[in-house]
Amino acid sequence: MKNTTSYIEKNKDRFISELVELLKIPSISADSTYKSDVLKTAEAVKESLEKAGCDTVEICPTAGYPIVYGEKIIDKTLPTVLVYGHYDVQPADPLELWDSAPFEPVIKTTDIHPEGAIFARGACDDKGQMYMHVKALEFMTSTDQLPCNVKFMIEGEEEVGSVNLSTFVKENREKLSNDVILISDTGMIAKDTPSITTGLRGLSYVEVEVTGPNRDLHSGLYGGAVANPVNVLTKMIASLHDENNHITIPGFYDKVEELSQDERAEMAKAPFSLENYKKALDIDDVYGEAGYTTNERNSIRPTLDVNGIWGGYIGEGAKTVIASKAYAKISMRLVPGQEWEEITQLFKTHFESIAPKAVKVEVKPHHGGQAYVTPTDNVGYQAAAKAYTDTFGKAPIPQRGGGSIPIVALFEKELDSKIILMGFGLDSDAIHSPNEHFGVFNYLKGIETIPLFYKYFTELSK
Ligand code: BES
Ligand code: MN
Ligand code: MN
Repeated sequence: MKNTTSYIEKNKDRFISELVELLKIPSISADSTYKSDVLKTAEAVKESLEKAGCDTVEICPTAGYPIVYGEKIIDKTLPTVLVYGHYDVQPADPLELWDSAPFEPVIKTTDIHPEGAIFARGACDDKGQMYMHVKALEFMTSTDQLPCNVKFMIEGEEEVGSVNLSTFVKENREKLSNDVILISDTGMIAKDTPSITTGLRGLSYVEVEVTGPNRDLHSGLYGGAVANPVNVLTKMIASLHDENNHITIPGFYDKVEELSQDERAEMAKAPFSLENYKKALDIDDVYGEAGYTTNERNSIRPTLDVNGIWGGYIGEGAKTVIASKAYAKISMRLVPGQEWEEITQLFKTHFESIAPKAVKVEVKPHHGGQAYVTPTDNVGYQAAAKAYTDTFGKAPIPQRGGGSIPIVALFEKELDSKIILMGFGLDSDAIHSPNEHFGVFNYLKGIETIPLFYKYFTELSK
């Protein structure tokens, strides 16, 4: 590829200011108050794809938020890259923990990002990473270097489980046909240590409701004699892990694909400092399943976590009360082999079975998705590895990730192609947290590396 770095150098201020404009729109898919903003973001993405050189771009309606689809087909005999990303973002709360407003992007330097980082909700997850692909396309079309066909599918419901995307994919197999799917919605090991995410965990998300007496009660008049739903719920939750932090749901591990000792030894070679890990999180020790390292616990092992728990009185001062109800939102991260619907069912059966007769329990399943593993012995992976090697001066490290993009496994099944996860975020970018940011270095490196993927993928596919 010619002139990549000079093109980026010349246009970087505009690349940043365009992303800043996109980040100003609060496209929070989880909160319907922001509906018009989410729709406005879809329009903005459509416009940006048109400007970047797509021949056709459409906003495809779904039962929820629309999918922006764009394409540039230069020659039907050449390979086709399908880019997936999402334009929706997580809610920004708790707002008081942000140093600057989440939808008023600012550029500030940090220890890790002396070149500056863009602070805003969605900066890294996923507007910034998605927009790298738009700018990479702009570079390739405006310098006449697009080596193959390209399709874009940018959705607006990833952060709420991609519930309508599966229908869209199943109904548009022909339109979406491709030779490889390229996604930047994950991270890399460090700024100077490129890596390719070779796996994502699956997910089962449930909400539980424990009901005791038919009304909130005086905790003196009734305390000790009727079940307190908050006490019961916390006890039930505590019992879901044993003393080794294994999950106690019968059958939970039955289908887990264990890694061989060789694979685990290979994984352990990735650079990792437990000291830095603890320091970055201000914790004195790590915690997790016995027999596994930190990197194993957060990628190749399934987990169960309470994401939120509530019930009873939480206002100012004290109120003596036994609440009628208690609630929790629980997520289980799954690994290859585990079927998410089956795990949801196992959870439900078990949770109902451990409830004392004194309460009623309801388990409401939310969304879920299968885990995914990308093999490294394919043209897509090799093209990505060559691209990183060119721009970082060293080969990327394959690494299993702990997060989930629930729709990825479905892409492989329905569209019959491999998914390459070229993420440019860092763990310290605080995605889903207050002060989310994306390094300017990472953003521009992404724009530089992506066109090389297209080039090598086209060459290696011959
Ligand atoms: N981009 C993330 C997933 C991710 C981040 C994977 C970093 C690997 C490394 C995605 O937007 C996300 O947040 N997914 C959710 C699942 C979804 C159903 C809300 C997740 O992992 O919690
Ligand atoms: Mn994401
Ligand atoms: Mn996310």
